[in-house]
Amino acid sequence: MKFTALFAGIISALAVHAADSSTLDVWVPPITFPTEGVNLISGQTYNFTWDASSPPPQITNPTAVIYLRQNDRTLPIILAGKVPTAQGYAPVNIPWVNTGVYQVVLFGDSGNFSPEFNITSPNPFTP
Ligand SMILES: *[C@@H]1O[C@H](CO)[C@@H](O)[C@H](O)[C@H]1NC(C)=O
Ligand SMILES: *[C@@H]1O[C@H](CO)[C@@H](O)[C@H](O)[C@H]1NC(C)=O
Repeated sequence: MKFTALFAGIISALAVHAADSSTLDVWVPPITFPTEGVNLISGQTYNFTWDASSPPPQITNPTAVIYLRQNDRTLPIILAGKVPTAQGYAPVNIPWVNTGVYQVVLFGDSGNFSPEFNITSPNPFTP
């Protein structure tokens, strides 16, 4: 799946420079936030972003869902749902998951993974 996303990313990057991209129908906009190694805190809201600047003429799925991933598994935790893919961002409130290294996957036309970042969950019962 990673390879497919990478391949589609290369195709869409090439399509930007192509005169006619009308046959392109898989859109894999690169995630621009969270960036590699950033530390996000549970309970706080961040502006998750992706590059929606070059959509293909045909979008098969105009809405995106952002899931949390850990250890190469997509978790059943939806961080944002039914976001218009073309919007390019969604506010995400970081859930109270275990402190650790995570990724997100943006499901729209395809599945696109973010770099790895950290989530830190301070003990909510400590004043
Ligand atoms: C993210 O977590 C890793 C592994 O625990 C750690 O080495 C790194 O320093 C953390 N990065 C930040 C920005 O806290
Ligand atoms: C989130 O990022 C987008 C794209 O950069 C920007 O247009 C929007 O204003 C940002 N929203 C917030 C709440 O910062």
